[in-house]
Amino acid sequence: MISKSKIFEVYEEKGRNKLFTLNFTPGKKAYEEQLVNQNNIEYREWDPYTSKLAALIANKCQNIFIRKDDVVLYLGSSTGTTVSHVSDIVGKEGFVFAVDLAPRVMTSLIFNLEGRKNIAPILESANHTGRLSERISVVDIIYQDIAQKDQLNIFLKNIHNFLKKDGYALLAVKARSIDVTRKPKEIFNEVKRELEKETIVIDYKTLEPYQKDHAMFVVKRK
Ligand SMILES: C[S@@+](CC[C@H](N)C(=O)[O-])C[C@H]1O[C@@H](n2cnc3c(N)ncnc32)[C@H](O)[C@@H]1O
Repeated sequence: MISKSKIFEVYEEKGRNKLFTLNFTPGKKAYEEQLVNQNNIEYREWDPYTSKLAALIANKCQNIFIRKDDVVLYLGSSTGTTVSHVSDIVGKEGFVFAVDLAPRVMTSLIFNLEGRKNIAPILESANHTGRLSERISVVDIIYQDIAQKDQLNIFLKNIHNFLKKDGYALLAVKARSIDVTRKPKEIFNEVKRELEKETIVIDYKTLEPYQKDHAMFVVKRK
């Protein structure tokens, strides 16, 4: 039985530890996810092994701060797997700017997410905030998953440029992208210390067993 979870707009099947969002485009998949119909409402299964945001929720994050009607800046959208669930969460009055620098994945995203009118795909580097500012507005939420060495600086730059006052931002950190030679926990502690200099760190979770050597930080703009 699918029912509301503690996280707004996210649903769960308790006994089976499964997560779902409401399908924004009923009858249409965004990737290989399962579609489940219950009482004429269509849900899309959200697998923590394929999405770090789902892994964060599965690891008992109390609040992801992404709500219905929010405007989200999503950096590192890839082919749109997690973007599609964010699109389900914010719904038809919300909006997602989906940014990626790789033309090949952006082409797939446009194909996979056809019909989702609340997404603007943007082919650009998250590091080029000057160019991004010509295309996007101030946002309620920033979500970044770019697996780059300078991911922390890019995240902070985007917070300063685009996040509304008191807005929230989520950062997925891949330890091996920062330094393959150091222990992930050491890197995560260092990222936390750096984030605390410029933001309020609300939550921090490693994403094991779903995503190896990854962590997610939830911060609030000071
Ligand atoms: C791990 S994948 C993202 C997966 C995606 N967030 C999901 O859950 O479906 C990382 C993506 O970041 C993109 N990327 C890397 N550096 C970037 C940058 N500076 N600006 C924008 N996108 C970047 C890559 O092209 C890749 O598609």
